Amino acid sequence: MKIIVTGGAGFIGGNFVYYELKNHADEIICLDKLTYAGNLETLAEAQKNSKFKFVRGDIADREAVYKLFEEVKPDIVVNFAAESHVDRSIEEPELFLRTNIIGTSVLLDACKKFGIKRFHQVSTDEVYGDLPLDRPDLFFTETTNLHTSSPYSASKAAADLLVQAYQRTYQIPATISRCSNNYGPYHFPEKLIPLMIINALHEKKLPVYGKGINVRDWLYVEDHCAAIDLIIRRGTVGEVYNIGGHNERTNLEVVKTILKILGKSEDLIEFVTDRKGHDQRYAIDPTKISNELGWTPQTKFDNGIKKTVAWYLDNRAWWEKIISGEYKNYYAKMYDNR
Ligand code: NAD
Ligand code: DAU
Repeated sequence: MKIIVTGGAGFIGGNFVYYELKNHADEIICLDKLTYAGNLETLAEAQKNSKFKFVRGDIADREAVYKLFEEVKPDIVVNFAAESHVDRSIEEPELFLRTNIIGTSVLLDACKKFGIKRFHQVSTDEVYGDLPLDRPDLFFTETTNLHTSSPYSASKAAADLLVQAYQRTYQIPATISRCSNNYGPYHFPEKLIPLMIINALHEKKLPVYGKGINVRDWLYVEDHCAAIDLIIRRGTVGEVYNIGGHNERTNLEVVKTILKILGKSEDLIEFVTDRKGHDQRYAIDPTKISNELGWTPQTKFDNGIKKTVAWYLDNRAWWEKIISGEYKNYYAKMYDNR
């Protein structure tokens, strides 16, 4: 089979490329625009595999996408490509609409024009909005209403609705997955866990938004990849699958865990102005994917976070290059005088 993986030079897409190359004999074609978040160094090992091919391109560029579909004739498309950072979406919403909504619609049009066995949309639990902190009994299920908070989550929800519309109207054989927060190797330094690891290593302040009481449901990235792999091969067309491993932690707990692993002082923690519209708690109910596809997460948070910290210690060159470039301006804009 031929699988187009969009956004494969990013965090989860990159991990998915390696998961597929390791576990199957399919041809993988990565389509990625290489935005600030895309990194060819993430794919350096994959480039040595004859079953892997990298194509630079924008999912919102209709001509380029059609050309690729005509050439490759993919059996499956897995769409990871997106603008993915909530804080950036608050600063610059329009970019998120172009890639996350228009880009998805162009891919769907290509599937309609050239045919496809499966289109899989990698969505997020953020489309469900948030849960209150004082109701630990509540979880997101696949039937929870869409109720978005940020331009990022609104754009992802719009994309989900388009996928469902194309499935119903044009019979595009599509599936959608909505996963909780991922962590692991190749996570871009702007996100909570890598940002805190890297700052702690430099003895820099760790900027915790608000009081640090917001809760995220953390999943090791390989478990997410395994779930998507099951869905594209055995999932039912037209269905949505929630993915999460019941690993809820407050942000402060996560940050303190990282400091403990690194043997650094909690005095590095600095509480800063909260994110606008900050979602309180995300928590996934993964019963459906577990019952229907037999998926269960393999990595517990306590182990996964140690593996992740070790990866950042062992792969300094990967992130040092990122934080010495344009990222410096981003960091100054977002955190200086916050
Ligand atoms: P990321 O920001 O690390 O990577 C995104 C990738 O998409 C980059 O390689 C970038 O170059 C590429 N890209 C961006 N715009 C593009 C365009 N117009 N055309 C082609 N490529 C483009 O993101 P991530 O954290 O790996 O997230 C991947 C997907 O998973 C996203 O759709 C995101 O919404 C979803 N998701 C992420 C998480 C998480 O915790 N990170 C959780 C659930 C769902
Ligand atoms: O839930 C899935 C989502 O998880 C994905 O759809 C998004 O693409 C992904 O970025 C992630 O969104 P979050 O906003 O939850 O992740 P982020 O790492 O930006 O923040 C995690 C929590 O940490 C959040 O409550 C905000 C807080 N935070 C974040 C940063 C960057 C801080 O307190 N300080 C920070 O500097």
